[in-house]
Amino acid sequence: MNPILIIGGTGNIGGQVVTQLTATGAPVRALVRNPGAAQLPSQVEVAPGDLTRPETLDACLAGIDTVFLVWTATAVAVAPAIEAIAKHASRIVFLSAPLKTPHPFFQQPNSSRTLAEAIERTIEASGLEWTHLRPGMFALNSRHFWGPQIRAGDLVQWPYLAAPTAPIDERDIAAVAVRTLTEGSEHAGMEYVITGPESLSHYEQIATIGDVMGRTLRIEEVSPDEARSGCMAGIPESAKDKLLDAWAAALGQPAFVSNTVGELTGKPTRTFRDWVTANTTVFRT
Ligand SMILES: NC(=O)c1ccc[n+]([C@@H]2O[C@H](COP(=O)([O-])OP(=O)(O)OC[C@H]3O[C@@H](n4cnc5c(N)ncnc54)[C@H](OP(=O)(O)O)[C@@H]3O)[C@@H](O)[C@H]2O)c1
Repeated sequence: MNPILIIGGTGNIGGQVVTQLTATGAPVRALVRNPGAAQLPSQVEVAPGDLTRPETLDACLAGIDTVFLVWTATAVAVAPAIEAIAKHASRIVFLSAPLKTPHPFFQQPNSSRTLAEAIERTIEASGLEWTHLRPGMFALNSRHFWGPQIRAGDLVQWPYLAAPTAPIDERDIAAVAVRTLTEGSEHAGMEYVITGPESLSHYEQIATIGDVMGRTLRIEEVSPDEARSGCMAGIPESAKDKLLDAWAAALGQPAFVSNTVGELTGKPTRTFRDWVTANTTVFRT
């Protein structure tokens, strides 16, 4: 069996995909920008490469049929990179987002959405057999949202406390990815919306962290403007408006919930409480 190429294998989701794929015994190659810094399982073949440097991609793709793609690089690099992938591989599984789900939370215009749509169009026109994974809000975002305040004390301020999402555990996104990467053509042309199992408001998510940690947290709503310069100060500027717009749009109806994890893996989707329980170190001082 030819190795499966993971692009983004040092990141949140790609790292989980590498771990779970190697556990199945499948041969795995990881395209990495900095092999010296990549901490990957010893059986993973490390291929130095950079999506923004197309001349590095042929060597990474030699002998590859199937690619898992996480894209956080620049838009200008999309066309040459997909062209290089299509020259060698026959299948691609792309980590996208729920671009087509008719829920206001997923339908706000922003630059990430525009980029993901452009990548999907390029993939679909490339001749590759494709599968798009469409995870909603990652549970791991709570590390950045509330980790700093919970490590510093008991007061947690946040905007739109009533806004619901259905946070999805990165282990479940990876489990779906592994099925699509290893099971072959039955996933061709499929688009899998992957969410956590329940709609939870920000207030409920913060309270869950407090409960799991055995802490009594004081949860206070602040305005979007107060949040920008206060509790959201550590979040990149480019992400703040996208998040605030999506949360404002999400108010007033439950978050969209899918059962893709259950349907594809046969296992129950992990809850947000499961994620917090596995990640308590994030919230400890
Ligand atoms: N956060 C959410 O709630 C959410 C929800 C739905 C979809 N998404 C999508 O999920 C994706 C992010 O996934 P993630 O959290 O796993 O990302 P991440 O942890 O930031 O990892 C990004 C990976 O891409 C690699 N990479 C970056 N630039 C590269 C380049 N030029 N060439 C080769 N590799 C490169 C990084 O490698 P290095 O180690 O070299 O940096 C790293 O392995 C985004 O596309 C986002 O739109 C996010």
